[in-house]
Amino acid sequence: MADISPIKVTHLHGPALHAPVDLVAFVSFGDPTKDPIFKSADQALGGVLADVARSESFEGKSGQSITVHTHGRIPARRVIVIGGGPRNEFANPNVRDLAATAAQIANKSGAVSVGFLLPQLGANREAGLVQMTAEGVHLGTYKFGRYMTGEEHKRPTSLKTFGVMTDLKGKKPTATQTKAFEAAVARGTTIAAAINHARNLINEPAAVVTPTALATEAQTIAKKHKGTVTTTILDVKKCTELGMGMFLAVGQGSDQEPRFIHMTYKPAKKPKKRICFIGKGVTFDSGGYSLKPSQSMEDMKVDMSGAAAVISAMDAIATIGSDYEIHAVAACCENLVSGRAYKLGDVLTSMDGTTVEINNTDAEGRLTLGDAITYVRTKIQPDEMFDFATLTGACMVALGPYTAGVMSDHESLLRGWMAMAERTGEDMWRLPLNVRLREQLKSQVADMRNTGDRFGGAITAGLFLKTFAKDTPWVHVDIAGPASLSSARPSQPKGGSGFAVATIVEYATR
Ligand code: BES
Ligand code: MN
Ligand code: ZN
Repeated sequence: MADISPIKVTHLHGPALHAPVDLVAFVSFGDPTKDPIFKSADQALGGVLADVARSESFEGKSGQSITVHTHGRIPARRVIVIGGGPRNEFANPNVRDLAATAAQIANKSGAVSVGFLLPQLGANREAGLVQMTAEGVHLGTYKFGRYMTGEEHKRPTSLKTFGVMTDLKGKKPTATQTKAFEAAVARGTTIAAAINHARNLINEPAAVVTPTALATEAQTIAKKHKGTVTTTILDVKKCTELGMGMFLAVGQGSDQEPRFIHMTYKPAKKPKKRICFIGKGVTFDSGGYSLKPSQSMEDMKVDMSGAAAVISAMDAIATIGSDYEIHAVAACCENLVSGRAYKLGDVLTSMDGTTVEINNTDAEGRLTLGDAITYVRTKIQPDEMFDFATLTGACMVALGPYTAGVMSDHESLLRGWMAMAERTGEDMWRLPLNVRLREQLKSQVADMRNTGDRFGGAITAGLFLKTFAKDTPWVHVDIAGPASLSSARPSQPKGGSGFAVATIVEYATR
């Protein structure tokens, strides 16, 4: 399955309202009667725009849009106005949802071509807005339709070209401007493809996306970037030799063999630093003998979203190129029940020698990540490492379903990471790694136990991981909420979101 729609994002110039397209789209920042672009469009259409805005209570708020038929007054058959919210609160990533909305309305109305007037927010923001527009088009037209058998799901969508107009008057761009435009579209398209690829991996059933399937994914990406990306896959034998007692215990109850994935991107020049991205790769989480109730288990194919993000991001990083040496690591396995499964009361020995008493087999993610972190810290020895994990329901209780919890005791690394998240528009919020909660992880029989009590569950999971990260600069991102969504927005349909891919790629390539 292709990861992006065949829609071409092009640069359109000439007067925006007279673009030779099926549908013209532009943004109104707040009250349309005060928006100069809205006013000139309304004039060209003989006042119908204002009429429709009034009758549909369109106030230019984000999430609102109106569609108007032009009846031959301009070349386009339809004009849509999309609410942008207050102009001074508008951040570049917001344009993703607006472009996605334009593409979706175009497809619904059978339009083949769109002319989208980029929000006029100053030359210094143009490249960023163009990139986010390209992302929005491809993210907003994403569908996971593989298992839909109805004819309507097979039909190709109508939209073929999404023209972006960077200037209202349609001034011809300079060669430099054209180059910047094309680079921004290429970047946005590459990132959206990686996000959609991660979405596919998350949305596929656990019966398809097994640990070995994820290993094959990694190898396919390495093959595509022969010369810069290599992949090493460690099987059970190799992981046993390395002493990954926690990771292997989680996977031992399943007939699906665990796989430990390690991808490496090497730049042509001597790298400035070595960065490692680690993803939780539990391809299905039943909870093990601490069995989840059916409702909580229903969506647990998504428990490999961290792995999907780091593996897919490598594809985009290698396409865009980076000055850094980048590693992606994922310890992949299934958490099931069987005669071989690990049990409550078991004491596991981790790769770094720490012994862990299991008081909950459903806290499996931290066990797989603990060994992955030790592997990274000792074998890769990065300057910085980040992990992405659908780790705790407690993080969703704390922050809601859209925001990831970020934990670190390395202030400058954390600030650098949060700055990138701000740029990509991925919702992340810091939680404190309060060491007083470590008390909860004390065991009577081993160095630690794997879960604490009900309070501060996202943080005790973070503190557990910190034990293995030791002094290597490290940031933990709990993506349990945003990895998969039960309510859609224009650029994110329900289901796997591909959360974290954008910020990982941004961090690795800027
Ligand atoms: N994979 C789950 C966390 C999760 C919950 C992800 C909801 C996505 C949506 C994780 O392995 C888990 O089961 N965590 C437990 C931890 C508890 C046993 C300490 C949880 O959150 O209940
Ligand atoms: Mn679990
Ligand atoms: Zn889990």
